[in-house]
Amino acid sequence: MNKLRSDKYERYFCVPYLMGPNSLRLLDELLDMCPLDLTPDNKILDLGCGSGLTSLYLTAETGATVYAADLWKQESENRKRIEEWGAQKRIIPISGDVNDLKFEPGSLDAIVSIDSYHYFGGREGFFAEKILPLVKPGGSVLICVPGLKKQYEGRADAYLRSWLGDECLLFRSADEWRKIIGSSPDIVESKVWDLFGFYIPWQEWFNTSHDYALRDKMFFDRIIRPFTCFVGIMVRKRDLNKRYW
Ligand SMILES: C[S@@+](CC[C@H](N)C(=O)[O-])C[C@H]1O[C@@H](n2cnc3c(N)ncnc32)[C@H](O)[C@@H]1O
Repeated sequence: MNKLRSDKYERYFCVPYLMGPNSLRLLDELLDMCPLDLTPDNKILDLGCGSGLTSLYLTAETGATVYAADLWKQESENRKRIEEWGAQKRIIPISGDVNDLKFEPGSLDAIVSIDSYHYFGGREGFFAEKILPLVKPGGSVLICVPGLKKQYEGRADAYLRSWLGDECLLFRSADEWRKIIGSSPDIVESKVWDLFGFYIPWQEWFNTSHDYALRDKMFFDRIIRPFTCFVGIMVRKRDLNKRYW
């Protein structure tokens, strides 16, 4: 297998850094699809960053400043970890709900969200109202969510409930996500696809032996592998000063 960018971060593939299927492996594929050509002057929002591992990766790989925003993790807990990494000048932890974020419109070069957007972004119109305005013209949004394979579209309840309970309703197919993200004159390019990556992110989560990982593992052959995938979403915002033809 070719070396992946995320191989460098292997020492973090454990608890408390991973909170689910390996977020860095998922991010690798998004960045292959849509490289973020950023500099230390640029700003990224890592939305639903969890423990901030993806924020560390993003700043190390791009040089940009990362706002590491999360609801469940305390700002103080993430700040402590960021200081342990020596990354406090480039990663700024923020705690709170996505709906209460205080960024100026057009102030971010990119927004990245791994394994969290399905918790808050599943309403049609949310992307155009809350997410796209924050990005600069020419900026990008990269999202990865766990989802349903196309052939089981709309039937998450029937297939996933014994594993996830009510949370199963957050799992949608790529086609459903395409509709949820929607179109807008401000979007110059978008792509929604089933990621190639699947086994490695899951296996590395199981390797942590976290209680939740061991529980997920029990459902892998019966539910996770046959019915689910990871859905990637890439959106580029139009820059009116640029020609696209
Ligand atoms: C499964 S964890 C994934 C964390 C991290 N991105 C990763 O891949 O390891 C989902 C994250 O979504 C965040 N989240 C859920 N609802 C949110 C909301 N309304 N606003 C901001 N973050 C939210 C949670 O705080 C949680 O850390």
